[in-house]
Amino acid sequence: MTVTEGQTSDEFWIFGYGSLIFKPPPHIDRQVPGYITGYVRRFWQVSFSRNSPPPDPGRVVTLIERSVWEKLGDHHDADEVVWGTAYRVEASHVEEVKEYLDIREINGYSIHYVDVHHTNPNSPPIRSLVYIGTPENPQFVARERVPGETELAEHIYKSVGPSGPNKDYLYQLHHALEDLCPDSKDNHIRSLFRKIAILEAEEKLMEIEEEDHEEHEEDKMEDIPFHEHPSGQEETEPNMTSS
Ligand code: SIN
Repeated sequence: MTVTEGQTSDEFWIFGYGSLIFKPPPHIDRQVPGYITGYVRRFWQVSFSRNSPPPDPGRVVTLIERSVWEKLGDHHDADEVVWGTAYRVEASHVEEVKEYLDIREINGYSIHYVDVHHTNPNSPPIRSLVYIGTPENPQFVARERVPGETELAEHIYKSVGPSGPNKDYLYQLHHALEDLCPDSKDNHIRSLFRKIAILEAEEKLMEIEEEDHEEHEEDKMEDIPFHEHPSGQEETEPNMTSS
């Protein structure tokens, strides 16, 4: 049996930790919720194709090796493990799916291999391919400065691109992680989700207040007797002249 980069040639597994969780690859015949260790998930990858065009593109997730992340000065704690989904691709479609994924994950991601742990500790880990935007890739946003979560949330909230609002990516990822299995939470994603939900609620409230204000102004106008109307028009007798 041929072994390439830790994967057997007749079994191809891919680990999804971002959009691949809520939008799985085609031609899969098995999917397993699981986690990897030694990495931290962060919304620190620029996405030109999914979100706003340059110079202000949106953000998507990437993985950072924990030992590298520790030196970056992130003020937020990292979860112990990164949850996601391992997919087995049908043997007859492996090449096709690899090509599809290489195009889909073209935005600064490169191929790596990880061991995905099952929720059942008695099952052996699954060697899987994973796409990672490493700190060396030009689309890694924390190369010079680690963005704060509030700044990130505001950026994601306002970015919209060809694939729709950037916040939809975050919302779908958050919900997919919550639904994956009882332990599969991610504090960074959850915190961004909460911040964006607050921004959205604040905007909605402002809209309601503006509508209320406009309605109130209209009501005030209706209450003014016609002869005192600010338009300055005098109340006139209806035109009685007949033709
Ligand atoms: C992944 O989902 O595994 C990679 C990142 C992404 O495409 O969102």
